[in-house]
Amino acid sequence: MTSTGPKIDSDWFKLSFGELYPVVYAHRSVESAAPESRFAAEQLDIGPHSRVLDLCCGNGRHLVHLRKYTDNVVGLDYSGELLAIASETVAAQLVRADMRAIPFTGSMDAVMNFFTSFGYFEDAAENHAVVQGVANALKTNGRFMIDYINPAFARETLIPNSEREQDGYLIHETRWISESDGRLNKTTTLTKEGRICAELGESVQLFTREELTELLGSERLMVDAVYGDTDGSEFSAESERMIIFGTKRS
Ligand SMILES: C[S@@+](CC[C@H](N)C(=O)[O-])C[C@H]1O[C@@H](n2cnc3c(N)ncnc32)[C@H](O)[C@@H]1O
Repeated sequence: MTSTGPKIDSDWFKLSFGELYPVVYAHRSVESAAPESRFAAEQLDIGPHSRVLDLCCGNGRHLVHLRKYTDNVVGLDYSGELLAIASETVAAQLVRADMRAIPFTGSMDAVMNFFTSFGYFEDAAENHAVVQGVANALKTNGRFMIDYINPAFARETLIPNSEREQDGYLIHETRWISESDGRLNKTTTLTKEGRICAELGESVQLFTREELTELLGSERLMVDAVYGDTDGSEFSAESERMIIFGTKRS
C-alpha cells in the first residue's frame, strides 16, 4: 500500500528515541529480546572470548542476554535517555555515539544490529558510512548481523492507521510508503487526558535483500545467510523480517 503523508524531518532519529520510546515500543521488551539474542549469538558463534558490539543497543534489552555468552559486550547508541536505562539494566560498556562514526577499529569479533536500526539516513553516503564503520570495527573474518524489515512484507501488510492505549497514553500511528524515495514512514501521536504530549516521526529506507547485499559487499561485508525470522526459517517474500548474517573478508 502506498500513500502520502507529511515530510518526516531528516533528523527524526534524534527526537524519536527519547523517554516515550519505551511506551510506544513497550512490546519490544527484555523478554522478547531473549530468543533474538540467542539466535544471533548461536549464528555468530559467540563464545566467552568474543568481543561483541550491539550497534544501536537502545535500552540494552539484547545486551542483557548477550552477557550470558561473553562478558565483553559493548552497546552503542545515540539516545542519552535509552542509554541511561541500559546503564541501570546491564553491566556492559556503553558508548554514546552516532552510528555514522563508530569509534572502534579492528577490535570486534561480531557486530549486531537489532530491530530495524539501519537505513535511517536520506543521503545514501550516510547509510554507506554506517556500513563502512561496521567493517572498520570488525576484525578480519569478524561476523555481523542486521535484523531488518522485509520490504515485501512491509508493503503487503502496511496498516495506514491504528490506535491503542499504553501506560495511560492514547497512541495514534499513521504509516505510509513514499515510492519517490522508497521509504517506509510513520508518525506517532501520543495523547494523555486530551492533551497531545508528543508527535514523533520515523522514516526508514526499504532496502531489498539485493540492495543491502550490494551495499554491504562494497565494504567487504559478505552475506553468508538470510533468514526470515529468529526461529531460523528461510527468508521469503512472506517473511516478517530480513535477518542478514555475514563475514568481513580481507
Ligand atoms: C528501533 S530502535 C532499536 C533499539 C534496540 N536495538 C532494540 O532492539 O530495542 C533504534 C535505535 O537506534 C538508535 N539510533 C538512532 N539513530 C542513531 C544514530 N544516528 N546513531 C546511533 N544510534 C542511533 C536509537 O536511539 C534507538 O535506540
